[in-house]
Amino acid sequence: MSLPLVLLHAFPVSSVMYDGVVERLPGVRVIRPDLRGFGTAPEPGGEQPTIDRYADDVAELLDREGVERAVVGGLSMGGYVTMAMLRRHPGRVAGVVLMDTKASADTGEARVNRERIAAAVLQHGTRTLRPMVDTLLGDTTRRERPAIVARVSAWLDAARPRGVAWAQRAMAARPASFDTLRTASAAGVPGAVVVGAEDTLAGEDDARAMAAAFQSFTQVHVIAAAGHLSAVENPDAVAAAVHGVLDTWQDLPRT
Ligand code: MLT
Repeated sequence: MSLPLVLLHAFPVSSVMYDGVVERLPGVRVIRPDLRGFGTAPEPGGEQPTIDRYADDVAELLDREGVERAVVGGLSMGGYVTMAMLRRHPGRVAGVVLMDTKASADTGEARVNRERIAAAVLQHGTRTLRPMVDTLLGDTTRRERPAIVARVSAWLDAARPRGVAWAQRAMAARPASFDTLRTASAAGVPGAVVVGAEDTLAGEDDARAMAAAFQSFTQVHVIAAAGHLSAVENPDAVAAAVHGVLDTWQDLPRT
């Protein structure tokens, strides 16, 4: 029996984005929460929006599930939460899979843009997110796989304004995580980085920068014909990367 696996979803979708990956991991206990404000999770309240709060929610969920340690995989915003888990709850994280994400903080311009999106969804609803399908999916998927385009569009339509606005503000406030990755690497945490070759939001440069910080423990998997939602566009490749980390952990000497 392998370690449990936690899968943390991207913005502005929900844990359903991992259906294909989970199908390909028979025998692995997968815990895939909807982050607050998304999918079936309750709306955020008046609390300060931070990625750390999502990470604390995940740690509380692990407590409730009786799971001490798990491999944690996160895609994009889920990756930010994974790095916050490493920072705040390092003892809970046995390994990481960082997908289509980045360890850098936002630029000032990106923060302003996030606040603009937060205000727009609160005022006009989440239909303003519809054009995001073009940046979430790679060129190949958009050209050749209409069923995936339709599925992701439906997920965008289902997003809820308060959850979206809260997430944008939380992401704007996140710190850089390169030191966090260095610390995890020095502690021997195994990890893998996955990136769609056609990802224009968190591309190969971001993946390699994370791998450089994570040093010898990290493998970088560049997935052909996939964009930002690599776990949706190529669940086989993502499942293989997850298996690599679970197997590495299994083989590590125990002290
Ligand atoms: C995501 O897919 O979660 C977003 O692209 C993250 C972000 O906006 O930085």
